Amino acid sequence: MAPTSTSVLTRRGRLAKDVRRDLEGSQKRLQPKYLYDALGSQLFEAICELPEYRITRAERGLLAAHAGEMGVGLVSPVTLVELGGGSGEKLALLIEPLVQTLRDVSVALVDVSSTAIALATRTLGRYPDLPVTGHETTYEDGLRQAVATRSGDDTILVAFLGSNFGNLDPAEALAFLGRVRSALRAGDRLVLGADLVKPEAELVLSYDDPLGVTAAFNKNLLVRLNRELGANFDLDQFAHRAVWNATASRVEMHLESLCDQTVLLPAANCLVRFTAGESIWTESSYKYNEDGIADMGAAAGFARRDQWVDAEARFAVTVFDAE
Ligand code: AVI
Repeated sequence: MAPTSTSVLTRRGRLAKDVRRDLEGSQKRLQPKYLYDALGSQLFEAICELPEYRITRAERGLLAAHAGEMGVGLVSPVTLVELGGGSGEKLALLIEPLVQTLRDVSVALVDVSSTAIALATRTLGRYPDLPVTGHETTYEDGLRQAVATRSGDDTILVAFLGSNFGNLDPAEALAFLGRVRSALRAGDRLVLGADLVKPEAELVLSYDDPLGVTAAFNKNLLVRLNRELGANFDLDQFAHRAVWNATASRVEMHLESLCDQTVLLPAANCLVRFTAGESIWTESSYKYNEDGIADMGAAAGFARRDQWVDAEARFAVTVFDAE
């Protein structure tokens, strides 16, 4: 069998296993990484253009204004490893001063979505001499692969932007930062974008926009399960919900069942019962404060180098040194 078919089968098998386990618990869940099939990735790009979702614009503004300072002191050759990239536009802002000032720069794109890697690779095509490698895998695997191929004197700059960090729960986020730190060595650096706490109404609106793009992004997960696992989710019988959980400092996305119903997922070999009002929890977006981000980096073994905050949108980019 051709390797591509094997990997497709393996991926689908993993999806089936995860979905079955995660829909069996008392709080049904689906992992947020499964939101990003080809359509989900495009819908996320559309979310980034919404007036109510300000993360992308705020971060772009901070990168446009401060990317030069973020790269100051890095020693060539530099490999920029972006974890969970998106369109590549923000990465281009970060790269611009590096390619202007350093002799030897390359990029490694790490994403579970081949669509996102393809988009970012196309964007970076504007730098014809820039070597770009794609790693269609999880953040940690991709970082490991990128670090494993570094030549002796390469400096690594890890970019974890767009508040992707916020989709990990805090314990997981801290452990993750710790593993990123362990993969790096003195002289390497981390640029971390994280969304900050703001008023509830603003937060809820940015995850439940009036155009319904975020609702489509969330419900597309059910479309994916219908397509890939032969499930029979009726999209009209589920509603998108975005809820601010102040105690946990997170926006939660749910898909709420509008009636008592049973859904079949043949390829996951399961049948799932829903009562009216019961939800599938699909994503958490944790919101931090400025010091909380710096403290987490420090707890993971990084030294905070600098931090810039978009005061209006309440978004922070923090640069950490691996010392
Ligand atoms: C990718 N991630 C940082 C987004 C977020 O804000 O949590 C995903 C998203 N979900 C709904 N809107 C955007």
